[in-house]
This record gives sequence, C-alpha cells and structure tokens, in this order.
Amino acid sequence: MSGAPVVDADYLKEIERARRDLRALIYSKQCAPIMLRVAWHDAGTYDAKTKTGGPNGSIRNEEEYKRDENKGLEKAIEFCEEVKAKHPKITYADLYQLAGVVAVEVTGGPIIDFVPGRKDSSVSPNKGLLPDATKGVQHLKDIFYRMGLSDKDIVALSGGHTLGKAHNERSGFDGPWTKDPMKFDNTYFKELLKDTSNGLLKLPTDKALMEDPTFLGYVKLYADDEETFFKDYAASHKKLSELGFTPSVPPSKFAGVNTTLLALGAVAVIVAAAVVLLCYFYHPR
Ligand code: HEM
Repeated sequence: MSGAPVVDADYLKEIERARRDLRALIYSKQCAPIMLRVAWHDAGTYDAKTKTGGPNGSIRNEEEYKRDENKGLEKAIEFCEEVKAKHPKITYADLYQLAGVVAVEVTGGPIIDFVPGRKDSSVSPNKGLLPDATKGVQHLKDIFYRMGLSDKDIVALSGGHTLGKAHNERSGFDGPWTKDPMKFDNTYFKELLKDTSNGLLKLPTDKALMEDPTFLGYVKLYADDEETFFKDYAASHKKLSELGFTPSVPPSKFAGVNTTLLALGAVAVIVAAAVVLLCYFYHPR
C-alpha cells in the first residue's frame, strides 16, 4: 500500500480488533520490550527538515531490519506479521505504532492516545539515524532535535528502558536496566540516580542523562514522581509515534465530544429561554 489508508468506521473497528490481538500476543509471547523497540526504531529515523523517515512501516524491509542498529527486531516484525495476516487492511506503519502503545499499556504503563492513518513506505531511510549507545549528551541532542523532539522528550522516552534488556549478541551490551524488566514504571530513573549499579545496565547514553543539567532535572523529577513521568512519557511517545504524520480526519472521539457539547449547549439555551418566557407570562400580578 502506498497511499494513506481511509480511516472510516471499518478501519477503526479493525484497529480495535488488532489492539485486542496485540494484547493477547504480547501476553502469550512476553514480548512487550521488543514490540516497544520496533515501534521506536520505525519512528526514530525521522528528519524534521527533509520530512523523511519516521513511523512509516519501512522497518519491515529486510534491508532495514537486518542492519546492526536493528539487530533482534526481526522477531518483533514476525510477531506483527501474525496480526497483519488477520487485519490486512491496517498499514504496517499503524500496526507497529499500535504494538508500541499496547506494549506500554499491558506492562502497567500509561495509556497512550493512538490516532490511526499512517501511510506505508517501501523506501528505507539511510543507516545511522538512530542514536548510538556509546555516545554522550551532544549526540543525544543532535539525534532527537533532528526529529523535532525536545530535552524533555529525550529523558521521558529514555524511560522506555524500564522495559527489557540488552543482549550481548545484538548490541554488545548485556542485561536489564531494572530488576523487573517486564513492568513499566519509573524505576529506570531511580536506578540511574543510585551510585551502585546492582548489576543493572547503564548505557553511556543513559549516564549522559545525568551529565546535562536540564536532563538531570527531569531524571530527578521522574524518579520522585511516577505520575508526572507517566503523563510526560505518554505525551512524548505520542509525539514520537506521529512524527511526520498529520491525521487525515480529526480523531472521531474528539469530533464526537464537540458535537455532543454543541448539542447540549443548544438544549441548555432553549430550556433557559423557555423558563424566562414561562416566568414572564405566569408571574402572579
Ligand atoms: C536514547 C537513546 C537510546 C539508545 C542509545 C538506545 C539503545 C538501546 C540498546 C543498545 C538496547 C539493547 C538492544 C539489545 O541488545 O537487544 C536497547 C534496548 C531497548 N530500548 Fe533503547 N535506546 C534508546 C532509546 C530508546 C527509546 C526512546 C525507547 C522507547 C521509548 C527504547 C526502548 C528500548 C527497549 C524496550 C529495549 C529492550 C529491548 C529488548 O528487551 O529486546 N530505547 N536500547
């Protein structure tokens, strides 16, 4: 598919069915971390200046998923293929982002608003657009600013490392960031602030979050206040999942709310006018 999908009632129904299938699949395969990572790696190639890359499903191309930076993600692509076979109407771009949203939700993380309608692209972006874990503060800023994201987004999204682990054979790094890598919470930030590592992983890019004063402010905030982390994470994840994507129709639920509010407003005005008239005509003289 090359054009944007038509997001009509049928497409929305299909998205809800796929969401249910993804919940079951992620539970039975215990694959939330890799599903989150595939969504991030499909989206994280976006270039805000050239408007290329981003969440467009291109990671399904063998040429892209076989790259070193994507090692291990083939598994997630295979899992998503099971859902795609049942819901062929849904674009890969939507499916991968939905998988990321569901992975966070089913591991206890925040609910992330999901708006469907992304186009698929068969063109893969250049290599080397995703962050390199061996680098530091300036590199993180260069990569995320290129996507159009902020310092706050960098720290909130790094909290995705609350899930899963590194695998020596994939990245050269090893081990989880937290003691409970299947639970989405704020312990990534709590562990980051501890002096001892307790055998847990800290990538150079994780440590970089302690080296920049703006980053550090957010690390401390999120370690102290899980509610704020969840709120900011959900907003940053939504931004990441919508890089370069403008929904073709306003999300129906908002449209629904607006129509309902207008209708209620109109009823309220009519009732008020009727009360005023009644008082005027039936006022005891
Ligand atoms: C900030 C820059 C980032 C760098 C340098 C980075 C780097 C890495 C590396 C090296 C791994 C280990 C891969 C392996 O060996 O299997 C990894 C895993 C992971 N990353 Fe990141 N990452 C970054 C940001 C993110 C973001 C923004 C998210 C999601 C919001 C994310 C989600 C994950 C998850 C869930 C895993 C675990 C995958 C698994 O268990 O198979 N990462 N990351």
